[in-house]
Amino acid sequence: MSIPLLDLQAQYSSIKDELESEILDVLRGGQYILGPKVQEFESAIADYCGVEYAVGVANGTDALVLALDAIGVGPGDEVITSPFTFFATAESISRLGATPVFVDIDPQTYNLATDKIEAKITSKTKAVIPVHIFGQPAEMDAVNDIATRHGIKVIEDACQAIGADYRGRKVGSLGDAACFSFFPSKNLGGAGDGGMVVTSNKDLADRIRLLRQHGSPKKYHHSLVGYNSRLDALQATILSVKLRYIDNWNNARREKAQYYNKLFEGTKIVTPKELDHVKHVYHLYIIKVPNRADVESALKENGIGCGVYYPVPLHLQDAYEDLGYKEGGLPVSEAASHETLAIPLYPELGTEDMKKIADIVKEAIKD
Ligand SMILES: Cc1ncc(COP(=O)(O)O)c(C=O)c1O
Repeated sequence: MSIPLLDLQAQYSSIKDELESEILDVLRGGQYILGPKVQEFESAIADYCGVEYAVGVANGTDALVLALDAIGVGPGDEVITSPFTFFATAESISRLGATPVFVDIDPQTYNLATDKIEAKITSKTKAVIPVHIFGQPAEMDAVNDIATRHGIKVIEDACQAIGADYRGRKVGSLGDAACFSFFPSKNLGGAGDGGMVVTSNKDLADRIRLLRQHGSPKKYHHSLVGYNSRLDALQATILSVKLRYIDNWNNARREKAQYYNKLFEGTKIVTPKELDHVKHVYHLYIIKVPNRADVESALKENGIGCGVYYPVPLHLQDAYEDLGYKEGGLPVSEAASHETLAIPLYPELGTEDMKKIADIVKEAIKD
């Protein structure tokens, strides 16, 4: 029997009746883009994160673009971020004509190495985007301290980390604004694309609300040039249903992560390091192994899904050749891109399957 990296059908089956009846209500109601269902979901997310405002947009990438646009990032500006993330983090900076400046990561958490940020700040630096990679919050006290001292903004890329917390505060409430993705595979995922910007800054929220809808405060009146980036009612409804379960699902992920940690104890496999003052939500369970290719082949031969996040750090992507980074420039990210592997982890994953996966991984690293 095969075991996928993520099983969205298992999740769907567990909430099928609730989901289907609420989806039908939307279909019959005839309000499909923005509207009350989106507003309801925005309020629920704002409450959940402990912030004042939430603005639903088309996807996580747009959430980043709109947040950066709203704080005034544009051509000639620099924005500091991690090279060990999905491409969209840096792409959103480039989309606005600004330049991503990559800072290496911490070898244990894979999050921004905060002691390396200050050396990269220049007179052009406008913001920093800490990414809560794989579901673990970045070291936000240090990021905010640096940002305050240098007068730059902090935009959290919380796309992989909904529900995670840092010193008891939810991600989303830790910077000037934060961005979520509701891509189907995320811990809170829709049946299509979706995203959200959250903030407690009213001016920023108002501006993002304008930007997402052609800069239009009133139909056919446009106060600025914006985007078409709206959340739709079907996604908002599906996500509102799933939000009722997110804490249970995240807790199940955390329990399963701890079980894997136990299964891998005493081996050469490096398991995720969860910092004492955070709650990690294990969007992905990442192991570090010396002979990754062998582990990948063994898992695949046995019908077990796995994935490499990310095989090429962003500073070495072809799209960023003109930025002039060279191999060896950000060595921790580069090592991580060669050695890390995601193995199946989702709330419905069974104990027997986890034992089987762990046995295969352990066997593959023996030589
Ligand atoms: C860290 C990170 N940032 C940004 C994004 C972009 O989100 P989306 O795919 O919804 O545009 C994603 C997810 O795909 C992500 O994982």
